Amino acid sequence: MQADFWLQRWQAGQIGFHQAQVNRDLRQHWPLLRLEPGARVLVPLCGKSLDMNWLIEQGCYVVGAELSEAAVAGYFNERGVQPQITRKGDFSVYAAPGIEIWCGDFFALTAHDIGHCTAFYDRAALIALPADMRERYVQQLEALMPQACSGLLVTLEYDQNLLEGPPFSVPHTWLQAFVSGSWEITKVSEQDALHSSPKALRAGLERMDEHVYMLERQSR
Ligand SMILES: C[S@@+](CC[C@H](N)C(=O)[O-])C[C@H]1O[C@@H](n2cnc3c(N)ncnc32)[C@H](O)[C@@H]1O
Repeated sequence: MQADFWLQRWQAGQIGFHQAQVNRDLRQHWPLLRLEPGARVLVPLCGKSLDMNWLIEQGCYVVGAELSEAAVAGYFNERGVQPQITRKGDFSVYAAPGIEIWCGDFFALTAHDIGHCTAFYDRAALIALPADMRERYVQQLEALMPQACSGLLVTLEYDQNLLEGPPFSVPHTWLQAFVSGSWEITKVSEQDALHSSPKALRAGLERMDEHVYMLERQSR
């Protein structure tokens, strides 16, 4: 998926992925990570997700990364918060108490940029990317995060022959092949996502499952 694809989606207001409420999986499963108060949490490909507000309310410091300026500006506007905007290299960093969002290409971020994030939250980030970019995404996550860290990952699994992404299907076997080398993967929930997806129903899918995983980085 090229940058233009996402920038146009935001420009045209085609943001069906955006949820008007805080994600229920986040609320339910985040405590499993047992983070220290004040933990820095990386939210890759964050859009203008309200989940970031919830993380701030839990006492986390959120470090978001998002390509679209419209999304980032929208996030702060809708919260009624005036961010401080600083230019750092190729990024514009929007900051307010409890949060900074790096507006630019996630793949260009460095560990130095984001600081010591001990956790990440991925909802609709990995599954937004086609397979070749997903491998790069995992490598980038590993480059950005310290050896001791954990995260919550929400994926979808369905028959990719019947429906094009995004969101893409990320089967458990893909995670085993590309993620399990460095991370311990624990599936914490699995539920039907078909009946809340008119697009999937129209495409004739018989199953679409949402999986939530806890990932814990294995020290080598
Ligand atoms: C499917 S949306 C999910 C947004 C958010 N995680 C949510 O749950 O609402 C994917 C987001 O990733 C952003 N994005 C795509 N490629 C990116 C990149 N290379 N760097 C930063 N953001 C990117 C898009 O602009 C879009 O907002």
